[in-house]
Amino acid sequence: MNYKALVKKAQAARKYSYSPYSHFRVGAAILTTSGKIFTGCNIENSSFGLTICAERTAIFKAVSEGHKKFRAIAVATDEDEFVAPCGACRQVLMDLAGGDIDFVLSKNNGETSVMKLSELYPYPFSAKDFVKE
Ligand code: THU
Repeated sequence: MNYKALVKKAQAARKYSYSPYSHFRVGAAILTTSGKIFTGCNIENSSFGLTICAERTAIFKAVSEGHKKFRAIAVATDEDEFVAPCGACRQVLMDLAGGDIDFVLSKNNGETSVMKLSELYPYPFSAKDFVKE
């Protein structure tokens, strides 16, 4: 599937990146199964560990508005190479969206590489690990 339009939304979302420490702008756009798109950007904090990535901003916005089923998420940076998502985002996306979601990596020129989240995060922690019966 061609996710060019979703990537364009992720690229546009970079505009609002609050990244005064890393100067690394990230935008994300998540597509629900109903066809709605939520965007997000990275938002840094002077207490660095409180920074939130673009992917989590996007999915939290969607979930906070009642959306629970997702088809794909696209991520855009200013880099000329593909940038893979961090481990925290892989975990959050796995929990909330599931491994079958398409993860759309992109280069600054719009070129895409699509992987299943389950390929990016093959051996995840999940509620099954601690919820017994
Ligand atoms: N960042 C994201 O927004 N998504 C990722 O998947 C990796 C990292 C952000 C966090 C921080 O603001 C900046 O990129 C540098 O780590």
